[in-house]
Amino acid sequence: MEQGIFAAIDTNDLEKAKNLAQKISKYIFGLKLGMEFFYSHSSSGVVELISSLPQQPALFLDLKFHDIPNTVAGAVRAVSYLQPDFLTVHSLGGADMIRAAVEEVKSQSSNSKILAVTILTSMNEKNLISVGIKDDIKTEICRLAELSLKAGADGLVCSPLEIQIVRENFGKKFTLITPGIRPKNFNSNSDDQKRTLTAKQAIDLGANYLVVGRPITQAPCPQNAAKSLMQEIALA
Ligand code: C5P
Repeated sequence: MEQGIFAAIDTNDLEKAKNLAQKISKYIFGLKLGMEFFYSHSSSGVVELISSLPQQPALFLDLKFHDIPNTVAGAVRAVSYLQPDFLTVHSLGGADMIRAAVEEVKSQSSNSKILAVTILTSMNEKNLISVGIKDDIKTEICRLAELSLKAGADGLVCSPLEIQIVRENFGKKFTLITPGIRPKNFNSNSDDQKRTLTAKQAIDLGANYLVVGRPITQAPCPQNAAKSLMQEIALA
């Protein structure tokens, strides 16, 4: 099973992003660029960042598309030339929207994989109730996982706490990516992640790729943080 770590480069500052990526890219599998970076620097910033690196890392463009199917297809088309390995859509956008993204990738003859984000790792059951979802998280995740995989998604993004139930119910054939990774000694009191596990726990439960942001990017030495996470999951 393919496994590795994507470092989430969440910053508005292009130079900071380049600096960080140069320090850590040789230790990890790839870079994840999301809204914070993309809305600041758009596609040209992605090209500038990637081309500043000695070797091209895997690219996870985490733009979490969530709109009507036609608009999402257009967004997928707009970023296809960046050749991201992974692109995200929200499962809650529904089957037609997911299918539109998958079909657009095919029509571009692109190798990008569409991943469906189930429930954000920053949400707990209380937050779900507040938006009208009354089922427990695991039931809701399984409902969204089934819908997404049936609509053709290549994989899922979920919290590490749901890896086991998703693998048990839907098998091993799809890519499973989990954010919400927190080292044991990480002070997470002040951040927004609520459904977390360590890197090793997530890999042992069957995740393919882990997304790690602040535990690497805000570490005193990001290279060491990346290296020790790779050692923790025995990929270094
Ligand atoms: O800093 P931290 O490790 O919390 O970063 C997690 C990254 O994963 C962020 O870029 C966030 O947007 C992303 N993400 C998440 N939960 C999801 C999907 C993506 O935290 N369900």
